[in-house]
Amino acid sequence: MRAFQINEFGIDKLALVEVADPEPQPNEVVVRFDAWSLNYRDVMVVEGRYNPRMKIPATPLSDGAGEIVAVGEGVTKWKVGDRVMPIMVQRWFDGEPNAETSRTAIGAGAVWDGILREKAAFAENSVVAVPDQLSQSVAATLPCAAVTAWNALVVSGKLKAGDTVLTQGTGGVSIFAVQFAKTLGARVIATSSSDAKLKKLSELGADETINYRTREDWDRAVLELTEKRGVDHVIEVGGAGTLAKSINAVRVGGHIAMIGALDTEGTFNHVPIFMKAIRLQGIFVGSKAMFEDMNASIAGKNVRPVIDRIFRFEEIRDALHYMKSGAHFGKIVVNLDR
Ligand SMILES: NC(=O)c1ccc[n+]([C@@H]2O[C@H](COP(=O)([O-])OP(=O)(O)OC[C@H]3O[C@@H](n4cnc5c(N)ncnc54)[C@H](OP(=O)(O)O)[C@@H]3O)[C@@H](O)[C@H]2O)c1
Repeated sequence: MRAFQINEFGIDKLALVEVADPEPQPNEVVVRFDAWSLNYRDVMVVEGRYNPRMKIPATPLSDGAGEIVAVGEGVTKWKVGDRVMPIMVQRWFDGEPNAETSRTAIGAGAVWDGILREKAAFAENSVVAVPDQLSQSVAATLPCAAVTAWNALVVSGKLKAGDTVLTQGTGGVSIFAVQFAKTLGARVIATSSSDAKLKKLSELGADETINYRTREDWDRAVLELTEKRGVDHVIEVGGAGTLAKSINAVRVGGHIAMIGALDTEGTFNHVPIFMKAIRLQGIFVGSKAMFEDMNASIAGKNVRPVIDRIFRFEEIRDALHYMKSGAHFGKIVVNLDR
């Protein structure tokens, strides 16, 4: 079967290789993938920026959807033909993460190798069912970005109808956050660097939008929109470069979900964190239980994940360059034509 492999770091150096088909071990299933989706992490992994000590050769990517084509001895939950998605953190099933489970995120090194391959084997407990109404391409968007947004808002944030959520930019995590916040009855203030994308955010349901390039003091704009109170939740995907403004924009006692590092240049004053009693919570994807709860909610509320563009398997390098350009709105999918 075919697999993409990092032998040297760099998007254009990603190599298409032939490897042996996986055989299912006891309590494992073999999944044949139909579709994958990209996360910003994949660009960093392929370029050697995610973990400079990452062992290679390795296969990138964490998100995909496929069909079970073989089951190992003792498998009780699945049969050949079932449609599934691997969970990103392969041994985090429920409750809090710990040092052991956190080391089991797939797609960032040889130990928990990635899934940009035609088939891969997983423990039967480390995959979840694709909701019936979703295609494989749509399901492939869920394991990382959607679960992260769900954890940030619903689990960590305990979001209530009527809360106000601030989202940053229009990448995968932020667009899922807009969709979940709206279906749960929250008000959304969304930012983007592009007026065209702001228009799409409004069409998706965002109540107010701010261009963070033309309105550099977007934190002030948020305060103006909230009668100086600030928002209840911030989906913080920028990091060092955006945190100072997120701290200004959140209300006293509010919640900042620390998710990303898209903007690494900047410093922040820690004093308002305690003066405003802000809850600054690091988010690491989510557990299998969160993934399954989210899937039930998506099915019940008919959330349609936003796919910007679909590339073919062989076009993965173009897909990664496209993601790096930041031109996308929502998710980028890679599909295998059969
Ligand atoms: N902690 C976790 O478990 C977890 C899980 C998933 C992702 N992440 C991290 O979260 C971040 C987002 O991931 P993703 O896959 O959603 O990324 P993505 O799809 O690549 O998002 C890119 C978009 O982010 C926006 N952006 C970039 N710099 C920004 C800034 N300074 N302020 C506001 N928006 C900015 C831009 O939107 P516009 O074009 O609209 O301006 C850009 O198009 C990454 O750092 C990723 O590594 C963490």
